[in-house]
Amino acid sequence: MTIENCKIIELPKIQDPRGNLTYIEGGQHIPFDIQRVYYLYDVPGGAERGGHAHKGLHQLIIAMSGSFDVLLDDGKDKKRFHLNRSYNGLYVCPMIWRELDNFSSGSVCMVIASNRYDEEDYYREYGAFMRSRWGH
Ligand code: TYD
Repeated sequence: MTIENCKIIELPKIQDPRGNLTYIEGGQHIPFDIQRVYYLYDVPGGAERGGHAHKGLHQLIIAMSGSFDVLLDDGKDKKRFHLNRSYNGLYVCPMIWRELDNFSSGSVCMVIASNRYDEEDYYREYGAFMRSRWGH
């Protein structure tokens, strides 16, 4: 799987003058079952998150409020996404290095994940990720 597999998924949106509603069903709107949800908030200006890859984890990243950038890197190609709509999710497949930055004030980044937290699933060192991914 490469960066070409990572894409913005437009989620269902029920428009209503009382406020809009978006929903996500595992296996239906996103290509994995949901085992975990976590979110980043109170991110100080200029902070960077991420800086790792996952061996087997699938994720969907959503800007629930505000905006931020996600830089994806499969070791050959890089792509930057600007997330600022709560009905859009960025699907990130396994074996992709990611960095998150450019958080607007008050932004909330929600991540839906295919597995529970497991430190063994991380590559936290870029060199180790590259060696495992491309053998150099
Ligand atoms: P990390 O995944 O490095 O955060 P980010 O990618 O957003 O920069 O996780 C930061 C810390 O939080 C790390 O010590 C592991 C812990 N953590 C959990 O305990 N459970 C979780 O579900 C997540 C995502 C992180």
